[in-house]
Order: sequence, then C-alpha cells, then structure tokens
Amino acid sequence: MDGRALAARIREGVAAEVSELGELGLATVLVGDDPASQLYIRRKHEAAREVGISTRDLHLPEETSEEDVLALVRDLNNDDGVDGVLVQLPLPRQIDEARVIGAVDPVKDVDGFHPVNAGQLYLGRPAHVSATPLGIMALLEEYGVPLEGARTVVIGRSDIVGKPIALLLLHANATVTILHSRSRDLTAHTLEADVVVAAVGQKGLLARNMVKEGAAVVDVGMNRTEEGLFGDVDPDVSERAGLMTPVPGGVGPMTIAMLLRSTVRAARFRRGVLAFP
Ligand code: GUN
Repeated sequence: MDGRALAARIREGVAAEVSELGELGLATVLVGDDPASQLYIRRKHEAAREVGISTRDLHLPEETSEEDVLALVRDLNNDDGVDGVLVQLPLPRQIDEARVIGAVDPVKDVDGFHPVNAGQLYLGRPAHVSATPLGIMALLEEYGVPLEGARTVVIGRSDIVGKPIALLLLHANATVTILHSRSRDLTAHTLEADVVVAAVGQKGLLARNMVKEGAAVVDVGMNRTEEGLFGDVDPDVSERAGLMTPVPGGVGPMTIAMLLRSTVRAARFRRGVLAFP
C-alpha cells in the first residue's frame, strides 16, 4: 500500500480546499530538541506551506515550565489567525502532557488528543481524530480492504494510534482485537486476522510466520537505528501478506496528509461551515 502516492493526492485535494477557504493557519509547539520531533515538525511545516496553509513554528527550550507552555497554548487558542494548534509529543518531564492537551481549544485540536475529541470518537461521532489512524483508514479504503465483519488485530494501545484505530475499525463494523505488552500468544490472534495494524515501536515484532496468507498488514512502527529506519513488521511478511505498507513510504506520509486535512476541517468548524459535534 503506497502511502506516498495516496498522500500526494490527498495534499492536492487539500490545496484546492485551502484556496477555496482563504487564509488558514496552523501553529505547532515544540518543547526541547528531540531530533525525531524536530524532523516531524519540519515535515509538517513543509507540507502545510506547500498546500498554502500559513504556519507558525513555536519552539521553546527544554527547561520551559508547564505554566509557560499553558500560557502559549491559551494565546494560540485566542488567536483568530490560528485554525489548528498542535503540541508535539513527547513533552519534557516537568510538563504534564494531559494538562497541556486539555488546554488546547477542542475546535483547534487538529491532533484529536483533547478529551472532548477522544470522547467524540469513542461515541462514534468523530470531531477531530488523530492523524495516523485517519491515514490508516484512508489507505485501507483506497486499496479496497473489506472491514465489515473482518477480523482485525491492533497491536499496541497508545492514545495516539492503538486506541483510536481500534475505535475507527469498530465503527467500520470490523471485529477488533487489541493486543499489547501483557497479551499472551500474539500469534494465535494475528494468524487469524484479515487485517493487522502493528503500532508498538518494536523493530520486526510481527514476523512472517505470524501472518495469515493474503492478510492486509499496516506498519505504524518508526524505529530509528544506526542501520536506518525500520517498522514493527519484518519486511519478509510481504511474502505472505496480500497488502502491506512499507516503512518508510506507508503510514508516515499519510499522517502528514491527514493532519493537513484536519487543519482544513478545523477552519470549517471555526467558520461555521461545519458544525462541531
Ligand atoms: N508524537 C508522535 N506522534 C505525534 C502526533 O501525531 N502528533 C503530535 N503532536 N505528537 C506526536
């Protein structure tokens, strides 16, 4: 499943929507100098600029206090030129992530991390949804993977990927099993699955002998090693899978494209074109 190709098409669509809507703004907040976070932020800005979204890049030092981050988030909430606010995670230790996420205006919460947006997803009335799960659903749809009644296995239970993708699959009428670090006998579950989403951050966790012939496999892993970037899925799983996302070039580009789409959605909410649920 080619995430680069689909993401490029989605970005074209977003660019057209942006020119229709007029001036649109995305603000990102990065605290500290984590190299991976800096890379992700740079990519998000490049992609936003390319589709005509103006961006603001707020970069605070590692030792910034929670109060200062909260004050900045409140300023962005009140700034009419800002449609979307994204606080890059993880945050440094002295800062309570939940408090910062909870301070973002839910209408501007393009990451979908705010409890209101997480709750709306839980209830099956999605407002803003985390970009990676949205990208996965778009890929599965693009490649015609049937979800109705399908056996799907999600490995990982993070708030950013595991839980929201499990809910989206459930709302698409799939049978959903969530596996995690305490689960016993992963293979017993994965071997039965029509769709496997691996989102744990462990290189090569899903091996060839764990996958059913013809299954669709989505690799969310971004494991950086000295030898390069690796997913959670062993590359030779592609010999058994019917469809599989590569790393890089699968879920990663989709995440960025869906963030842009969420920024347009935020602008529609804010302009009253779309009702915020
Ligand atoms: N850290 C890892 N993934 C993400 C993401 O999708 N959004 C933000 N804000 N931080 C992240």
